This record gives sequence, C-alpha cells and structure tokens, in this order.
Amino acid sequence: MRKTTERRRRTATRGRGVLLAAGAVCVVIFVVAAVLALVLPGPAEEPGSDLPGLAESHGIKLGVAVAVDPLRDDSDYQDIVTDHYTSVTAENTMKWEHVQPERHEFDWSGPDTMVDFAEDHGLDMRGHTLLWHNQQPEWLAQGFYDSDELREVMREHMEALVGRYQGRIDSWDVINEPFEDGGPELRDNLWYQTLGEDYIAEGLRMAHEVDPDAKLYINEFGIEGGGDKADALYELASGLLEEGVPLHGIGFQGHFVHGDVPEDLAENMRRFADLGLDVEISELDVRIAEPVTDEAISAQAEEYRRAVEACLDVSRCVGVSVWGVTDAHSWIPEWFPGYDSALPFDEDYQGKPALGGMVEALRRDRRSPGRPAPGR
Ligand code: G3I
Repeated sequence: MRKTTERRRRTATRGRGVLLAAGAVCVVIFVVAAVLALVLPGPAEEPGSDLPGLAESHGIKLGVAVAVDPLRDDSDYQDIVTDHYTSVTAENTMKWEHVQPERHEFDWSGPDTMVDFAEDHGLDMRGHTLLWHNQQPEWLAQGFYDSDELREVMREHMEALVGRYQGRIDSWDVINEPFEDGGPELRDNLWYQTLGEDYIAEGLRMAHEVDPDAKLYINEFGIEGGGDKADALYELASGLLEEGVPLHGIGFQGHFVHGDVPEDLAENMRRFADLGLDVEISELDVRIAEPVTDEAISAQAEEYRRAVEACLDVSRCVGVSVWGVTDAHSWIPEWFPGYDSALPFDEDYQGKPALGGMVEALRRDRRSPGRPAPGR
C-alpha cells in the first residue's frame, strides 16, 4: 500500500515535470515566434493594393485610361489595372478615327475588348469621347458637310457607339475640349464651324436621346485652377442648365506640370458642383521636367495626394482617373519632349511614391459635408 502510494507520488511528480518541461518549450517557441514575427518582414503587401477598397469606402471611382493592345496581351498591365483601380476610360479606341475609320464602317474590336474587360473585372467604364476636334477620320475632318448632313453624321455615330454600349457605359465625355487651348473663346472646330455654338446643346441632347440613363459630360483642360477659361466654361454650363440641356457633369482633365499643380482645385470644382453638376478629375497626370530626380518623384506624391484630396473635399466629385497605366504607356514623352514620369507606375511597372500619395489621401477621413463617411 505504501509502495503503491509512493509509486503514484513519483508518477505524479514525473508527470508534473513533463508537463512543466512541455509548457516551458511552448513558452520558448511562442516567444521565439513572436520575436521573429517582429523582426522578419511579413508577406509583402503590394503598394496601393488597398486603393479600390479605399476609393469605394469614400464613394468615389479611382480610374485609369487604358490602351487596347496591352489590355489584350500584357497580363502585368492588366493586373495593375484590376488591382489598383475601379474604373477605366478608353484612352483612344472609342475615338472617331478608330470607331468609324470610313463612313458607315465601324470597328468594334477595340471598344468591345475594353467594355468586356471592364465588365469581367467589375470595373466602371467612362466613355471617351464623342465631339472633339482631334483624332477625326479623314472623311470627317475634311468637313464638306452642311449643317443637316453633319447632324446626320453625329446622330449615326452616337446611335452606333453610345447605343451599342447602352447600360454598360455609365458616363460619356460628349463634348471634349470645347474651348481654345488658352481659352476663353470657343474652339473653332468642325462642329462649331458648321453648327455654331449650338453644337454643344445639340450634341448633349442627341446623346441623351440615345442613352437617357448615361451621365453626360463636358471634359476640358486648363480649367482646374480657375481663370478666364474656367469662367467661360462656368458661364456655358450655367446657360445650358438654364435651358434644360441634359448636362450632368464636368471633367477637369488635370494634365499638370510638377511644381505647378493649382492650390485651389477643390474651390474651383465646388462652384461647378454647386450648379448641380457632378465633377471629376478625369485625366490626371503630373509630368516632370527631365532630368527626373528622386526628389521630384517624391514631391510628385504630394501632388497626387492633393488632387485626390481635392476630390474628397467636393461632395459631388465622383472620381479621379489617371491618364495611363505606366510611364511606358503615357502620352507625355511623345507630346511633351523633355518631360516624363507623369504616372503612378514607372516604366518597369513598379509603383511610385505617387501611388502612396493617393493612398494617403484616401486613408484620411477627409471629406466635404454631404459626402458619406468612409465605409457607409
Ligand atoms: O493610330 C496611329 C497608329 O496607326 C500608328 O501606328 C501609331 C504609331 O505611333 O500612332 C497611332 O496614333 C497615335 C494615337 O494616339 C493612337 O490612337 C498617335 O501617334 C498619338 O499621338 C495619339 O495620341 C493620343 C492623343 O490623345 C491624340 O490626341 C494619346 O495617346 C492620348 O493619350 C491623348 O488623349 C487625350 C484625350 O483624349 C483628351 N485630353 C487630352 C489627352 C492627351 O492629349
């Protein structure tokens, strides 16, 4: 009996010892794991990968202009678009010279690729663009039409293009760059020459007849910081609204030069919003004069941050779109020799500080009265 008790006591003591030793090992493993977790880098979070969620939490679109060729065959290009943005604009493929290269001959290969891509990936699609002075096919640009013929040409084009994607494209840049480059005069383009100033109201009414649910925009550059051209657009927009013309929004293109991004972006957009119009920054890029330095690239992040913050500061600002996926695809080097590096991704498809600037803006709980709080 005493032996049995003694055996039980020894067994119990041995059991406690084993338990204590096991516990100690567990504690050591836990401490080592905790220390390693602190010391070693975790799985790398891709910079800007939370951008779509952040933009959606503020109720704005974060968009990008896309080119059709890389959208077809460059999976890294596609990944940047789908991982960082919530909306796409066709950079070129929905323009007249591509859609209707010959009268009555339509090429839907590019636009279809783009609209299908947007739909497959749950992205919004901005339609760009209907009445513009640039990228017109030869048959249209030579301008031999009288006013009725030109109206017919406009109607055919809109019925074909806007009608084809009715319900799949939410908004259209119907009138693109209606003012002269320096403003404030209306641009002397084909539409103006043939139909006079009324081409703007007529174009908007026509697009509205084809797709009554689409939001219809005037899209302009050089108006972001106010000034004569912005004032002239303000007068034009006010007048159109008074006449009951279906104008729903203004696109502020936002092609900026590094070091010269206007301070009062929000203030200027707000006065258009106060007319009852949606506003958006529709073609954002910030070109840097060469040689492009690390310092300039870092400072550019602040400019991207400010642009996105300006949108958040205006209750009717519905989005910000950047004009191109990477610096390898940007229009800047061709159009502004001596400038480069205008976009949030570099030529090697790596995210730049500008991407962080946009994240920073969207992480701030900064919004104007009337804009829903993030997450609602
Ligand atoms: O179509 C030809 C093609 O046949 C040829 O093989 C190729 C060789 O370089 O050139 C192609 O044309 C290019 C065209 O884009 C593609 O559709 C032109 O060289 C090029 O200059 C043209 O530039 C576009 C520009 O609009 C034309 O005005 C840019 O990519 C595009 O980013 C730019 O976008 C405009 C917006 O629509 C309106 N706001 C301003 C913005 C920047 O200019």
